Amino acid sequence: MSFKNKTVIITGASSGIGEETAKAFLSSGAKVILVSRSKEKMEASFQSYDNSQCVIYPFDLSQLDKIDSFVSTIIKKEGPIDILFNNAGIGSESLFEDIDLSVFHEVMQVDYFSVVYFTKSILRHMIDNGGGQIATNTSVAGLITSRKRTVYSSAKFALHGFLDSLRLEVGKHNVDITIIAPGKVITNFGKNKLDSQGNPFGKNSLMPFGLSSKKAAKIILKAIKNKKRQVIVSKWGDIAWFGVLVYRFFPSLYFFLAKRIDA
Ligand SMILES: NC(=O)c1ccc[n+]([C@@H]2O[C@H](COP(=O)([O-])OP(=O)(O)OC[C@H]3O[C@@H](n4cnc5c(N)ncnc54)[C@H](OP(=O)(O)O)[C@@H]3O)[C@@H](O)[C@H]2O)c1
Repeated sequence: MSFKNKTVIITGASSGIGEETAKAFLSSGAKVILVSRSKEKMEASFQSYDNSQCVIYPFDLSQLDKIDSFVSTIIKKEGPIDILFNNAGIGSESLFEDIDLSVFHEVMQVDYFSVVYFTKSILRHMIDNGGGQIATNTSVAGLITSRKRTVYSSAKFALHGFLDSLRLEVGKHNVDITIIAPGKVITNFGKNKLDSQGNPFGKNSLMPFGLSSKKAAKIILKAIKNKKRQVIVSKWGDIAWFGVLVYRFFPSLYFFLAKRIDA
């Protein structure tokens, strides 16, 4: 799969799905711009790559008012962007009755608003350049609901509405919108997700049955290459697939089961 001469921005490139997707893009010949808060982690993970192919831009995406000038700086230095992969995100797990509402703001800021702001900034440049592709990592939690995910599903469902609507507007500018909706992928996501008070869980609860982030990256590159509208990134037989199908075709059964299962 070749992305030779393409320039890709990946947010959340210091870990998990973003890190592996960045490495897969690099292997396929793309120039990759890595964005996340941790400069050290990105430097350590990408030290074996050529600096001209792989450029690090540390940034905290919760600084929404700085995203536009951040994107302009990248474009001024690195040239036109062909693909944006909005990947960065944080999870949250708590009953709504227990949650401090500040957690809603924190998660919505990164998982939803930073995507809207980043997309808005890059879109202008893509339109001026004659087109591009915006891929976004949402989640199966943006397609189906489960207990203790009021915050996370709010952000990810909002992304689906935003992106499906945007797709209808930007096709005429030759800009493609691809939704990447993972089920369970083995990363540090579970360790970093926030509890009811906004503290990271600190340990990974994701079961070993998830997809490896390397396999997830392979599926993501293929979906981007084929300009897919939406792809579910999950092992066949994963509860995510079962959930999506039951939610769609047997909604009453879905809610009967989902009340009783901690997914
Ligand atoms: N793993 C799964 O099972 C799963 C399932 C469905 C959806 N997803 C989605 O996949 C995406 C990637 O998650 P992952 O599983 O790879 O988790 P991860 O290993 O925890 O990676 C999350 C990435 O997001 C970055 N990030 C978080 N907050 C940020 C901020 N304020 N500014 C800039 N970067 C920030 C982190 O970098 P820094 O800490 O260095 O900033 C890190 O690189 C997320 O959007 C998540 O919702 C994951």
